[in-house]
Amino acid sequence: MSSSRLKDVVTLRTQGPEDTFQLGVSFGGTAQGGEVVALIGTLGVGKTQFVKGLAQGLGILPEDVTSPTFSLMQSYEGRLILTHIDLYRLEKQSEMFGLGLEEEIEDASGLAAIEWADKGAHILPPGRLLISLKPLEGILREIVIQSTDVVHQAWQNRGLKKYAGAQRTHTLDASK
Ligand SMILES: Nc1ncnc2c1ncn2[C@@H]1O[C@H](COP(=O)(O)OP(=O)(O)O)[C@@H](O)[C@H]1O
Ligand SMILES: [Mg+2]
Repeated sequence: MSSSRLKDVVTLRTQGPEDTFQLGVSFGGTAQGGEVVALIGTLGVGKTQFVKGLAQGLGILPEDVTSPTFSLMQSYEGRLILTHIDLYRLEKQSEMFGLGLEEEIEDASGLAAIEWADKGAHILPPGRLLISLKPLEGILREIVIQSTDVVHQAWQNRGLKKYAGAQRTHTLDASK
């Protein structure tokens, strides 16, 4: 199977901020190092909320994780190093060159999480977990999860298994 081919696409709904956080905890807790997660979705949809969960799953204080507005990038040390990147402020793709973000992601032996990843697709390695968040009514969010290679597909399976096992209030839509 080619590495660029999309594997299983899983759609679920989180029922509030704590639920999205727990989804992040499940993925943080099952990361083994070298993973990249690309987060896509509008402002305020819950991307940082998910990254706070990743932090918790890695043994990093979630309240320490804020959007790296000015620095673009922030690293935290836990069971693995969490490299948190937020591309929101980048207006043009050309602004990204010379910042060293590409190298930071490539060298990350821990877990790299990139918010607004669609703004910087060209600096991301081909292997990644892709998480798209969409606002539904009220505090409901639709979350679509997919992977681009076997490493991330395996992580996706571990993360979702742990999340389901935690018996959150989420609903998994297996029909999609
Ligand atoms: N289901 C949900 N998942 C995540 N956040 C939610 C949800 N419902 C409401 N929220 C709220 O939406 C906001 C998301 O903020 P944040 O994670 O910073 O968004 P982003 O990083 O995508 O801009 C928080 O105030 C959070 O409490
Ligand atoms: Mg954010």
